[in-house]
Amino acid sequence: MLRTHTCGELRLSDVNKTVTLSGWVQKSRDLGGMTFIDLRDRYGITQLAFNEDGDKDLNSRARNVSREYVIQVTGTVIERESKNKNNPTGEIEILVKDFKILNESQTPPFTIEDNTDGGDELRMKYRYLDLRRNEVRKNLELRHRMAIETRNYLDKLNFLEVETPVLIKSTPEGARDFVVPSRMNEGQFYALPQSPQTFKQLLMVGGFDRYYQIVKCFRDEDLRADRQPEFTQIDCEMSFVEQQDILDTFEGLVRHLFKTVKKIEMPGVPHMTYANAMKYYGNDKPDTRFEMKFVDFKAVTGGKNFKVFDDAEAVIAICAEGASDYTRKQLDELTEWVKRPQLGATGLIYARHNADGTLKSSVDKFYNEEDLKKWSEACASKPGDLILVLAGPEEKTRKAMSELRLEMGNRLGLRDKTKFSALWVIDFPLLEWNDGDPNLLASLAGRWHAKHHPFTSPKPEDYSLLKTDPGAVRANAYDLVINGVEIGGGSIRIHDRQLQAQMFELLGFTKEEAQKQFGFLMNAFEFGAPPHGGLAFGFDRLCSLFGGSDSIRDFIAFPKNNSGRDVMIDSPSEISDEQLKELHIASLINQTAAK
Ligand code: AMO
Repeated sequence: MLRTHTCGELRLSDVNKTVTLSGWVQKSRDLGGMTFIDLRDRYGITQLAFNEDGDKDLNSRARNVSREYVIQVTGTVIERESKNKNNPTGEIEILVKDFKILNESQTPPFTIEDNTDGGDELRMKYRYLDLRRNEVRKNLELRHRMAIETRNYLDKLNFLEVETPVLIKSTPEGARDFVVPSRMNEGQFYALPQSPQTFKQLLMVGGFDRYYQIVKCFRDEDLRADRQPEFTQIDCEMSFVEQQDILDTFEGLVRHLFKTVKKIEMPGVPHMTYANAMKYYGNDKPDTRFEMKFVDFKAVTGGKNFKVFDDAEAVIAICAEGASDYTRKQLDELTEWVKRPQLGATGLIYARHNADGTLKSSVDKFYNEEDLKKWSEACASKPGDLILVLAGPEEKTRKAMSELRLEMGNRLGLRDKTKFSALWVIDFPLLEWNDGDPNLLASLAGRWHAKHHPFTSPKPEDYSLLKTDPGAVRANAYDLVINGVEIGGGSIRIHDRQLQAQMFELLGFTKEEAQKQFGFLMNAFEFGAPPHGGLAFGFDRLCSLFGGSDSIRDFIAFPKNNSGRDVMIDSPSEISDEQLKELHIASLINQTAAK
């Protein structure tokens, strides 16, 4: 090996040892005859000293190395005169006897420092240099540890890691697929899996009983900080279980990860129905690090001739603790914030519960102190609190209030990244009406869409509603939410052919379409499919949550940018005419045009 030790390893106890180190030049300092180099590798930084009384040639060569050169040095470990307490190797240095340049480097386009001067795009273009930075390296080390601990936990419980195929079949249900043309099968395409859902169910039919896989999934959807076109799931499935067994098993996994990776003992994870999550937080992934629950203000505000409230379908309030001293300017700014087109609220009404106990609202013309007392009682405000009220159409107002709640959480410092609050959201609706979701194919608009996926089983007590009121049917489906992030989700599956066929019918598939696309699964259900269920965690999201970041990109070695591009390898890219021809793409386009 080209080294005897790493750059993070040597201590005072190693003094007088002859060692060889290899690494990158972090920086060099020429102090007139005496040269110091900070040598860096994955493990740390060690100071190298080139003594002015030593080999003159060695010293002059040392003066010529620049940042990011790769060098190998041999020398003696000595105690440092001026020690650096901030660096684990800061008590020693290497008095260099010999050194070799293993490779030169151009000046990097940004500094390889914790606080780099490189912007996002530049760092993505030179991601291999960005990876040398502590922060990025630490994130990937965390990811590695999480994967190891996941495997440890699941292996102990008899889960088998099984790989499922990456070239599969396109199904328009769910998000859009990435497709891959087949050269050998003219005019036909594979699709990359959005998840291994059907395969893991088939593994259950195959008797595998407990499956998991840390697996890449691909979805052609709009990107955000917590969404990448290719991402990783911890995908799991179990046979002979009921919902509670799955919740217990995977709550155990999350608890194990918190304990081993973050040294945090997580309390039991509470359950909240989807209906309550929507009622109290206007959101199916509430951030429960803080309360600030929605309060229905319709009853306490009605009948006072204030048309904004009287005519509104919904009047909803939150109580922001300790915010009564918000200035007029802050409140005006908050009002503008809720009126942005993304939220679309028509305005914001507020009432201050002043420190002296008096109540003062922005609609004093309509509500006297007595009325405001009712407001205060309804939302249990205390002196020092600020009551914020939005009114308008039910769904829109709930959405806007949900955003306002999070914004107030941010402004009041209630969303501490070192605190964790988890919950299971259960009893999701089986279906939702698709009135033109931009992440779905246009042809799927105007029909029911599976809220989770089409393999999720309805709650047996709601079977009778399938025909009469499909929108009211609840599913045996659950999400794990931590700090307002959907970390994972799953369900008990349908394992009966008839019920599965009924589900496809509800989703607007003809018998033929259902058979063509999912016949393989429905057929398998006729050969002794065991009752089964499972879930998948978003592994990138879990890592970024543990790492205290909002962006999953920081935890992916080679991520895509917001336009789905890899700017380092410059992908996606065009392919040659020859490739196009071999893949029959041009002729397919012509055929479609001729139709
Ligand atoms: P679902 O679609 O809810 O379920 O996905 C499971 C989890 O994967 C994460 N996730 C993503 N992470 C990053 N980028 C994305 N584009 C992205 N999309 C989803 C989320 C989500 O909770 N087969 C089912 C699971 C099951 O039923 O067992 C499934 O894929 O954290």
